[in-house]
Amino acid sequence: MFKVFVYDDYEGLSQKAFEVMEEVVKQGKVTLGLATGSSPVGLYKRLVEAHKNGLTFKDVQSFNLDEYVGLSKDHDQSYYHFMFEHLFKHVDFNLENVHLPKGEGSLEEVVAEYEAMLSENPQDLQLLGIGSNGHIGFNEPGTSFDSTVHVIRLKEETRQDNARFFSSIEEVPNFAITMGIKDILRAKKILLVASGKNKAMAIKEMLEGKIREEVPCTILQNHPDVIVVLDKEAASLIQHD
Ligand code: F6R
Repeated sequence: MFKVFVYDDYEGLSQKAFEVMEEVVKQGKVTLGLATGSSPVGLYKRLVEAHKNGLTFKDVQSFNLDEYVGLSKDHDQSYYHFMFEHLFKHVDFNLENVHLPKGEGSLEEVVAEYEAMLSENPQDLQLLGIGSNGHIGFNEPGTSFDSTVHVIRLKEETRQDNARFFSSIEEVPNFAITMGIKDILRAKKILLVASGKNKAMAIKEMLEGKIREEVPCTILQNHPDVIVVLDKEAASLIQHD
């Protein structure tokens, strides 16, 4: 079931997303599923501010959705680096409690280990962005709804969308390792944030489209508790009562 909140701008949606996550973090010993990309930056900024005012992460553990294959932890476009720069280094997470799938080494082992950890530690809250093609995590169109942690070839449109972070499109990795759809749906609560016109069609499909593997986000219709936080542009194609 979806609860949809629409705000005028990115600041508004980031504040709402922050409030949802803060409430969970305040419970103390919780498990968060975290996302990277542009969408959660405003939320992470607010978590950092809140930490200065006493919000603690010392008992929180986290699992990120995904990582590029072939980028080391300290590559400036790795998702580990992103998380470290935007959140982990500014707050009091115990770094032993933060987890991202490793994009290097024996991927088979990484997949098995990450899946085992996830299935033993269901997320109290899973944060999601959404791809313009409807991907969640890096579960690209066509991914099985039964998928668990896996390596995936990124679609050309995803590489194009993410090329803005790299100096050229050739540098965008072709593969990523991601939580599967099943891992995402295990979360007790899901918080999905999206802003901008290029997300409008994916949001419409998620809320109103037929549930199908060609549009991965549509599976969220089957989850009991999804909070969707949007700006006006991302919400521009959805029907209002
Ligand atoms: C990131 C992730 C992706 C992004 C999505 C939107 O960890 O799993 O699904 O959430 O590609 O990215 P942005 O927010 O950069 O538009």
